[in-house]
Amino acid sequence: MFTAATLQSDNKSEQYLELAEQARGLLHGEHDRIANAANFAALVYGALPDLNWAGFYFFDGTELVVGPFQGKPACVRIALDKGVCGAAASTRQTQVVRDVDAFPGHIACDSASRSEIVVPLVVDDKLVGVFDVDSPKIARFDEEDRIGMERLAAIYIQSLRVG
Ligand code: SME
Repeated sequence: MFTAATLQSDNKSEQYLELAEQARGLLHGEHDRIANAANFAALVYGALPDLNWAGFYFFDGTELVVGPFQGKPACVRIALDKGVCGAAASTRQTQVVRDVDAFPGHIACDSASRSEIVVPLVVDDKLVGVFDVDSPKIARFDEEDRIGMERLAAIYIQSLRVG
C-alpha cells in the first residue's frame, strides 16, 4: 500500500521532485484516468502548502467538465473560451495567474481563490483536459511552480498509457 510522506524539503523545486517521485509511486501500474486523477489531486492538495482547490477538468469534445478534485464544490462545465481553464485548454499553454481578479473572464468557483495555475493535458496531440490548482494567496505560483506542475501533469498523462 502506498503512503504519501509529507515533503521533507522546504525548497520549492526539491519539493516538486519529491512530489513527482510520490506521484510515480501512487499511479504506478494503474491506467484508469478517473482513479489516477482522484489520487493525483489528493496527493497534490495534501502535499503543497497554501492551496484551496486542486483537480481536473476533462474535455468532452465540446467543453471542460469537472473531474476528481479536492476543495470546495466547483463549476461543472467550462467553455473553451471561458476562464483560466478555457484559456489553458484552448492555447495548450500553462496559465500562471498571479491575481485572478486581474484575469479577464476568470471564473470564481471559490471566492477564496486569489491566484491560480492551470496546466493543459494533451495526449498524442489530443486535448484530454486540464489540471487546475487554486490558492488563497496572491501570487502563490511562479515559474518554478509552472515547471514543477508541468512535470507532475506529465506523470499523470504517462499513467494513462497502457503498455
Ligand atoms: N477559476 C477557474 C474555474 C475553475 S475553479 O478555479 C475550480 C477558471 O477561471 O477557469
